[in-house]
Amino acid sequence: MTRKIAVVGATGNVGREILNILSQRNFPASEVVALASKSSYGKKVSYNNKELNVEILDDYDFKDTKIALFSAGGSISATHAPRAAKAGCVVIDNSSHFRMDEDVPLIVPEVNSSDLKDYTKKNIIANPNCSTIQMVVALKPLHEIARIKRVVVATYQAVSGAGKEAMDELYNSTKKIYHNEITPPQKFSKRIAFNVIPQIDVFMDDGYTKEEWKMKVETKKILDKDINVEVTCVRVPVFNCHSEAVNIEFENDITTDQAREALEESDGILIIDRPQEMKFTTPIECSTQDPVFVSRIRKDSSVKNGLSMWVVADNLRKGAALNAVQIAELLVKDYNL
Ligand SMILES: NC(=O)c1ccc[n+]([C@@H]2O[C@H](COP(=O)([O-])OP(=O)(O)OC[C@H]3O[C@@H](n4cnc5c(N)ncnc54)[C@H](OP(=O)(O)O)[C@@H]3O)[C@@H](O)[C@H]2O)c1
Repeated sequence: MTRKIAVVGATGNVGREILNILSQRNFPASEVVALASKSSYGKKVSYNNKELNVEILDDYDFKDTKIALFSAGGSISATHAPRAAKAGCVVIDNSSHFRMDEDVPLIVPEVNSSDLKDYTKKNIIANPNCSTIQMVVALKPLHEIARIKRVVVATYQAVSGAGKEAMDELYNSTKKIYHNEITPPQKFSKRIAFNVIPQIDVFMDDGYTKEEWKMKVETKKILDKDINVEVTCVRVPVFNCHSEAVNIEFENDITTDQAREALEESDGILIIDRPQEMKFTTPIECSTQDPVFVSRIRKDSSVKNGLSMWVVADNLRKGAALNAVQIAELLVKDYNL
């Protein structure tokens, strides 16, 4: 079996997690190549109890590589993903660059794996935004039983979603405050330590941020174009795992028991929901875990058919690396790649 895999952005938060997950899930690769920028030349990254030498993306020829998992940012994907695809390599891209391209499937395996068949149009598959992934995994089983009309969501997003420098910024600025030092923000628009920031990505003309726009349009592309989504995305001083307060309005009646049963039967979801015993999830408990955790499922009595719930997942795993590796597994299993 010759199945050479490349991980682009292998020194970053998502890239390192991809290497971990490929190894943990025994992904059937004959060789794994770690790629990053020129500044990482000479560095090593861990994979499967080994150290891989980091190679430079600009110099890499994708000719013999079956699958490349990209997580090096949108501009890098824009330049190098088509180059890899042209060389015959199938790209799974974590950036937002190709997500809304009609010829690029946007895949969450538990939700719309059948859309993967279109990957041959460009040899590129997009991995959705981290906040979208965990929300659609939890919405899909509910949509199937009661048809969702509208979703209102507020996110509480960890700094790991903004890359490794953002994690350093939270750590350093928190430490400095204890020494009465205030440092100006760098990766964020405002101070992140002991604060929350209702802005992720740039503001658009309509007043929403690009992150909020991504959640709306990606949910429609993955799940159903008729679902209306209202979003507020907020960065919080949490190192890892995104949380979401999700309110759903349905076409049809649905009880909390029916919702629980549908969620329980679905792949990739774990319900932790016994509030009387203080059993619900927080980001700290979900870090390094694979499932999407659902808690606090309750009836919303302010509308005819409504439910509210709390959804938490590891944004580096299910929100990025794990979802990408699951797509690669489907390519091997269903498309003989
Ligand atoms: N973090 C999340 O939760 C999450 C979720 C979904 C999607 N994503 C997306 O995944 C991507 C990476 O995110 P991240 O959090 O892993 O960022 P990160 O920790 O900042 O890592 C960035 C990676 O990109 C590489 N890179 C930068 N410039 C490069 C170049 N010119 N050529 C080759 N490699 C280059 C870096 O290599 P060097 O070390 O050599 O600079 C590093 O490996 C982004 O597009 C992000 O939007 C992230």
